[in-house]
Amino acid sequence: MTWTTWTEWAATEAAGLRTAGRWRTIRTLDGRGPAFTLDGRPVVSFASNDYLGLSQHPAVVADAHQALERYGTGAGSARLIVGGRPVHAELEDDLAAWKGQQRALLFPTGFAANLGVLSVLGGPDVTICSDELNHASIIDGCRLSRATVEIYRHRDLDHLAVLLARATRALVVTDTVFSMDGDVADLDLLAELCAAHGAMLVLDEAHAVLGPEAPASSEMVRVGTLSKTLGALGGFVAGPAALIELILNRARPFIFTTASTPADTAAARTALGVLRSPEGEVLVARLRAHVARVRAGHPSPIVPVVLGEEQRALDAAEALLEVGLLVPAIRPPTVPAGTSRLRITLSAAHTDADIDRLLAGLNTLGAFDALDA
Ligand SMILES: Cc1ncc(COP(=O)(O)O)c(C=O)c1O
Repeated sequence: MTWTTWTEWAATEAAGLRTAGRWRTIRTLDGRGPAFTLDGRPVVSFASNDYLGLSQHPAVVADAHQALERYGTGAGSARLIVGGRPVHAELEDDLAAWKGQQRALLFPTGFAANLGVLSVLGGPDVTICSDELNHASIIDGCRLSRATVEIYRHRDLDHLAVLLARATRALVVTDTVFSMDGDVADLDLLAELCAAHGAMLVLDEAHAVLGPEAPASSEMVRVGTLSKTLGALGGFVAGPAALIELILNRARPFIFTTASTPADTAAARTALGVLRSPEGEVLVARLRAHVARVRAGHPSPIVPVVLGEEQRALDAAEALLEVGLLVPAIRPPTVPAGTSRLRITLSAAHTDADIDRLLAGLNTLGAFDALDA
């Protein structure tokens, strides 16, 4: 391919993506979700990770407003430079208590949290063992760490045991709920295996609204996000104080970036309060009931409908959109070739009628075989 300028290079690359059917664009949805308008037409979104609808909760919105009034918009700089607001430290205390850990540290996003944690705990003398379906932020964190990276087959703890037996200083990292398949890691067995090999365990609990529960371990840190179940924006890591304080001092994605806005931080703090209250239990039960209607026995609110070829997934998503249901088609490189899928994410904010419509739409598509798979 010949090109002479960067603009020509970009055009050539873009043409390649278009030819491969992998060109992506951003939709603009208006409204508060999950009921939006798209190009003036009503749609119900089954695409968001706002699992409990807390981004719309009146108390969450009110406390974000209050923080905005009190502190203004931006945090100004990194917390080690300009200091935080009280709400940053308060949320860290609440997150540590929620996760049963000594300390927590906020990052601007969950993505940044994984980069920061893995780059501090990894290093040239460390072997990181990472599940093959871990999130992109874990993959990039592994790369950044300069550790030796060993990929184990998805949820295959026998394979992991072989890799651990070969390592001298090891760290195991896994999503607890896998973001494109909605299946879960066996955390008890993982913790046992790590303990047997003296390995650090790093859990990414970004999607863990329905579990699984992490076992207690002093050689473990728990990464999470404020951007999904808590309906705001930001990430965090919680764990033993010694580890968290070292991460605070060394993690470049914490040190060299502006802190989360006070409004987002306050929103997440109030959302966490709701989650841990009886009202939160009701919301979680409601979400569980929706999941059971769509796929009985499924452990998470992410329900994939694997259809195979990219075009099949794109056509299915388009057909659902025609009837006002936004269910994204997920395709390579996000998932392996031949496993393109619809990715349904459910929320307690969906009404029973929304779920009726989703089931009817999938039925019309004949997607139920894949759904039961
Ligand atoms: C498993 C997992 N970890 C981390 C992240 C990143 O979280 P955030 O959106 O807060 O950056 C995501 C987001 O999609 C995720 O699915």
